[in-house]
Amino acid sequence: MSVTIVNHPLVLHKLSILRKRGTSTAKFREVAREISLLMAYEVLRELPMELVSIETPLETMEAPMLAGKKLCFVPILRAGNGILDGMLDLVPSARVGHIGLYRDPETLIPVEYYVKLPDDLAERLVIMVDPMLATGHSASAAVARIKQAGATQIRFVCLLAAPEGIAALTDEHPDVQIFTAAIDRELDAHSYIRPGLGDAGDRLFGTK
Ligand code: URA
Repeated sequence: MSVTIVNHPLVLHKLSILRKRGTSTAKFREVAREISLLMAYEVLRELPMELVSIETPLETMEAPMLAGKKLCFVPILRAGNGILDGMLDLVPSARVGHIGLYRDPETLIPVEYYVKLPDDLAERLVIMVDPMLATGHSASAAVARIKQAGATQIRFVCLLAAPEGIAALTDEHPDVQIFTAAIDRELDAHSYIRPGLGDAGDRLFGTK
């Protein structure tokens, strides 16, 4: 199992702002964008580099540059969209795929309602994003769908994870590295993460 907790003070401070009940929709959205940039910085820490010959104003040097690794961010709709823009602020040239799933209320099986992915997913490092890793069921289904589309290198970024969600995702996809700002205590009877931050989609888009 590979779980990285990104516990930088700036990340933790911003996460606490997101958790607070009184944080307005506008503030929540702004801080989600900021924290996701910081998460992306950490997730991309080991991107391959190459030495390129450049001219400084004074001399020639071999300078480290990104080795052209192709990236694709894949937000899981709809809350994943709320932590996409901060990542794109950092890597504007990344491709973006989208995946939308809902849980059938009777069978409880995740059903796909929207998928749009780049054709060359197999050549890309895929960063899946969803602010909350709760039960892990839709995350696992989304990862399975991304693998079916050819992805082989997948990382999963969230802001908050429940121990149950981490266990479910790593059971089904032990090859997927998980990055989270915190692991909370538990899921409640309605599958909300406790203490959590509430419904991330509603808080991002002001729908409640
Ligand atoms: N999704 C959310 O938005 N919040 C939770 O606590 C769990 C899942």
